[in-house]
Amino acid sequence: MDSLSEVDFVIEAVPEIPSLKFSIFESLAQICPPHAILATNTSSISITRIAASTTKDPTDISASSRVISTHFMNPVPIQKGVEIITGLQTSQETVDTAIEFCKAMGKIPSKSADSPGFLANRILMPYINEAIICLETGVGGRDDIDAIMKNGTNVPMGPLQLADFIGIDTCLAIMKVLYEETGDSKYRPSVLLGKMVDAGWLGKKSGKG
Ligand SMILES: NC(=O)c1ccc[n+]([C@@H]2O[C@H](COP(=O)([O-])OP(=O)(O)OC[C@H]3O[C@@H](n4cnc5c(N)ncnc54)[C@H](O)[C@@H]3O)[C@@H](O)[C@H]2O)c1
Repeated sequence: MDSLSEVDFVIEAVPEIPSLKFSIFESLAQICPPHAILATNTSSISITRIAASTTKDPTDISASSRVISTHFMNPVPIQKGVEIITGLQTSQETVDTAIEFCKAMGKIPSKSADSPGFLANRILMPYINEAIICLETGVGGRDDIDAIMKNGTNVPMGPLQLADFIGIDTCLAIMKVLYEETGDSKYRPSVLLGKMVDAGWLGKKSGKG
């Protein structure tokens, strides 16, 4: 953490656990220089809440105004898209710096509101979740589900293989945020998704999905 006292821009990418992100941003606000941009790679957690965790005094926005999401798409070296999400506290200077930083990396930034799942996962995760529900209810087998979406929509891989690449635990965490924060039953995580996480079958990262 000490090396962070000299950075201009930090991107947090720890697992999708709200309490972990909040404690890390509380520390970053204390350790990083007062001009540093404090970015998160969160897939679904509110940027406003992450920004709020930098201070105990909500009227002091000296740190929270520098919090933003630069949400890189997986696999990062290949995908050009980055979602830029601002919290209520985020300053325009922070937005401009983050966009320039992403462009300098050769990425193509898109802006999204600070809403559960933002744009990318609001659209992508219900698609993956529905594919898992199709598998668990016998509408189709694993290979048929992936093949029809791959060959029918011209994407490089089907939804089940994509879930393995993203991480089954990450998919479940994002579905829970969508479900709990909207209260909308259409975002209910599939039972099989939860059971796979219980079994430790997390996809590529654990060698079984
Ligand atoms: N997997 C994806 O496709 C994807 C895509 C976009 C964004 N994200 C987001 O990026 C973040 C990371 O996801 P991931 O899939 O890389 O997770 P991961 O579990 O594969 O990796 C998390 C990393 O954080 C480290 N870590 C764990 N606890 C820590 C702690 N207390 N302090 C410091 N480091 C710690 C781990 O060692 C690991 O290197 C999440 O917020 C996720 O939602 C993931």
